[in-house]
Amino acid sequence: MIIEILNCDSEWGIGRKNGLLFRLPLDMKFFRETTTGHTVCMGENTLLSFPGSKPLRDRTNIVLSADPTHEYEGVVNVHTFEDFLCEIKKAGEHGDVFVIGGASIYRQMLPYSDKVYLTKVHKNGNAEVFYTNLDELPEFVIESEQPPQMDGDIEIQFMTYRNTAPKKIQ
Ligand SMILES: NC(=O)c1ccc[n+]([C@@H]2O[C@H](COP(=O)([O-])OP(=O)(O)OC[C@H]3O[C@@H](n4cnc5c(N)ncnc54)[C@H](OP(=O)(O)O)[C@@H]3O)[C@@H](O)[C@H]2O)c1
Repeated sequence: MIIEILNCDSEWGIGRKNGLLFRLPLDMKFFRETTTGHTVCMGENTLLSFPGSKPLRDRTNIVLSADPTHEYEGVVNVHTFEDFLCEIKKAGEHGDVFVIGGASIYRQMLPYSDKVYLTKVHKNGNAEVFYTNLDELPEFVIESEQPPQMDGDIEIQFMTYRNTAPKKIQ
């Protein structure tokens, strides 16, 4: 399966100044436990937003950057969306692939995604970049939602959306 995983605020915002909107230890733990051992794929800005711009440990990292001179250590570097899809398809033969951002990659990969693991943050984080409002897309249905809970002093809610008509990677 291809699964997008993210947290978004009450306005579907996901980031500001190439960083996250909130510090959410519980959500971070969920992200780490869910993605460890699998393949994660991302855009260049998201890789650069990690501490030391280093890939995520114990995961295969596929990174899309438009500039072919940008080659990062410890990742599968790709420079076209076609090659990105090709690497995702290959990795998908061995297990789940998680799309981990950012905004441009979430948008382009959404039609191919089987599920979205969405952590809804019940707060406005004054975002500059946004996710797609899934409630406006008829093909996306809520598969499950946990009761709201506190992550530090912020209320969050774990939700899963399912794509009823995912596009196949050719
Ligand atoms: N809330 C969350 O869960 C979450 C998770 C991850 C990231 N984020 C946030 O999202 C923000 C980053 O998002 P972003 O959209 O700016 O960056 P991004 O998606 O991480 O990366 C964009 C990069 O990918 C390249 N790229 C994208 N599509 C391409 C294509 N079709 N062909 C070739 N290259 C392509 C872009 O090149 P060009 O610009 O040259 O096209 C650019 O270098 C940050 O604020 C980050 O913290 C939030």
